[in-house]
Amino acid sequence: MRELGVVVFVLLLSTGSTPAASTTDHPSLAEVFAVHFAIGMGVDGADLDDPATWSLVRHHAATVTLENALKPQVVQPAPGRFDFEPADRLVDAARAAGLRVHGHTLVWHRHAPEWLFLDTRGHPAEPAQVLERLRNHITTVVQHFRGRVESWDVVNEALAEGGYGLRDSPWLQALGPDYLIEAFRAAETADPEALLFYNDYDLASRAKREQVLALVERLRAAGVRIDGIGMQGHLSLDWPAIEQLEDSLRAFHAAGLVVRISELDVTVFPRNATTPNHDPYAGGLPEDRQAALARRYAALFAGFVRHRDAIVSVTFWNTHDGRSWLNHHGPHPRTDHPLLFDRDRQPKPAFFAVIEQAAGD
Ligand code: XIL
Repeated sequence: MRELGVVVFVLLLSTGSTPAASTTDHPSLAEVFAVHFAIGMGVDGADLDDPATWSLVRHHAATVTLENALKPQVVQPAPGRFDFEPADRLVDAARAAGLRVHGHTLVWHRHAPEWLFLDTRGHPAEPAQVLERLRNHITTVVQHFRGRVESWDVVNEALAEGGYGLRDSPWLQALGPDYLIEAFRAAETADPEALLFYNDYDLASRAKREQVLALVERLRAAGVRIDGIGMQGHLSLDWPAIEQLEDSLRAFHAAGLVVRISELDVTVFPRNATTPNHDPYAGGLPEDRQAALARRYAALFAGFVRHRDAIVSVTFWNTHDGRSWLNHHGPHPRTDHPLLFDRDRQPKPAFFAVIEQAAGD
């Protein structure tokens, strides 16, 4: 009986009971691109708890961004009640694996608890109270992670859709445009060593690029430091043109800012398509779409490498297709395939197309 057990065990080993090649059989994105910029991934507790995914992160990333664990609602769900457990767990695991950590995000209109803006009777709070809460949140969070989190998205998505002025957020309503100055000042005071970023989407659009530059001017005129811009990069196969992206990279670099491509994914669905309530790629991505995604990623990374003087890191949102937020985003959940690794954590043609770009022109 015992011998039979041994034979079965050996057979299982030799036939390879694991589904496919190991996640670490391929060149490491982080190593291949290290001469140009750091490669990162957006991670959550689910990535850490899945050994295959965490080994993918360790092999391919040099830096991680916490996908949700540092958002205000998670960190301070009730006034003065800070819950750092989910973020501490991820930050400590990442650092133990030799990964750098980027903090996302201190100020945002989404995932911000309602109490921030209300008084005890549920009416809009006095501006002085909201300002005190803004400062206290930033100071407490940044000091808690001082020395462990190297850089922060201090403010996320403060610009209006289309880029005409500031978004009409509860922060703007309570404090006026100076809330941005207050936020950057508080972050700098809490950790003078940390790099401070403004993060937003659609920054390849000219209107938004100009608004970002105006915002940077305002911050600098007020004597506060901003080190760089996070260009989220939720892109599609058909948008934006690489030239538009390059115009923004050039403009930010010329303004003395560094750029993080902070949340990169490429949806396989057309941008702004009215989404029919069906799920065409639930069974997998057809070969021609797979090839189109690879071509798109190749063109993007060729552009990033050309602008390596401006770019400090390129972070994917998130680890593999099965973990992409795009599967749940929008009015109709649908199976998307926006990353370099498929649902089995295996590299897709887009992965190999990206690796080839590291050599440059
Ligand atoms: C997304 C996360 O990926 C989701 O898990 C969550 O449900 C919603 O937020 N821009 C940002 C990110 O700055 O924080 C968002 O992340 C994606 C869009």
